[in-house]
Amino acid sequence: MALHAAIAGIGAAVPKKVMTNFDFEKILDTSDEWITKRTGIKERRLVSDGESTVTLSVEAGRKALDDAGIEAEQLDLIICATVSPDMILPASACFIQKELGATDVPAFDLSAACSGFVYGLSVADQFIRTGTYKRILLIAGDTLSKFSDFTDRATCVLFGDGAGAVVLEATDQDDKGVQYVVMHADGNGWDYIHLPAGGSRYPASKETVEQNLHFVKMRGREIYRFAVEKMQWLMGDCMAKCGLTPEDVDMVLPHQVNVRIIKSAAEKFNFPMEKVYVNIDRYGNTSGASIPLALEEAKRKGSIDNGSRLLMVAFGAGLTWAGAVVRL
Ligand code: ACO
Repeated sequence: MALHAAIAGIGAAVPKKVMTNFDFEKILDTSDEWITKRTGIKERRLVSDGESTVTLSVEAGRKALDDAGIEAEQLDLIICATVSPDMILPASACFIQKELGATDVPAFDLSAACSGFVYGLSVADQFIRTGTYKRILLIAGDTLSKFSDFTDRATCVLFGDGAGAVVLEATDQDDKGVQYVVMHADGNGWDYIHLPAGGSRYPASKETVEQNLHFVKMRGREIYRFAVEKMQWLMGDCMAKCGLTPEDVDMVLPHQVNVRIIKSAAEKFNFPMEKVYVNIDRYGNTSGASIPLALEEAKRKGSIDNGSRLLMVAFGAGLTWAGAVVRL
């Protein structure tokens, strides 16, 4: 097989602060029962003062470098997939590069919301396939709690903060690394999930603050339908393109959006739930970080190991959706 990207190291980071459904009961008209039944979420981690997308991403990145046994200066590229960067400019990837001490290594952000990690995997894989780069640090980090309206019960209970990272290295081994990646987008659905103000269309002003336009807005039911459809489509496409059946897949790592959405896709292909990694109960929806957080946890707990064939499926704001088949 030609050169392609393989996962050489994995790292993850979540804030220490835990916010449970019972904590939300104290500030909102909601209940643990409603949130658990509708989403599968029991608690999530939220950043505290002094923590941000960059601090979590740096921690996850360091762990991935340690796991790969390489130093930051050995990297050829740093990609940070995020929709909650520390600042609009410069790129969070540049802050991460500085903190890691990866002097002169090129660094940029990638914006694909919850699909960011899988989009990043595709971008990194292309750089490796062309022979341009050999070692890439891909980090997906988000802190959507910073952009959540804590008076809007329909959105704020869903999100958690976190970062996950992988070191991708060039390999020519057929049965290792990225076997297939697919990406899609449909900008017609831009308003399903969006954050209206703070960009060049509606720069920050007294009015945008008064109108609550600096928080994530969401059309929950439409996203639900979109997510069910795309998760099923991605699973089918990835398996068909790689000639796989559910028996050939060792673990599905789905975007942790809602346990009901995950279960409906799994049922369509008769995936037993022990082959579908779910940790939304403890982390909520961490946007782009959710797949690498699941990857790190599944590996650490021994649910997957070297040689495991993984099916990753993600979708999010944009709208975007993306899937990948990866051999560890
Ligand atoms: N607690 C109690 N009641 C609530 C809450 C809450 N936290 N949130 C909404 N409700 C109420 C609504 O006000 C509504 O009340 P009403 O009937 O009196 O008007 C009722 O519950 C039903 O609301 P729906 O929106 O119809 O509830 P639904 O069953 O669709 O569940 C949910 C809502 C969980 C948001 C679901 O639509 C969903 O998961 N959608 C996907 C959205 C998502 O995950 N977005 C994340 C970002 S996007 C991404 O990651 C791809």
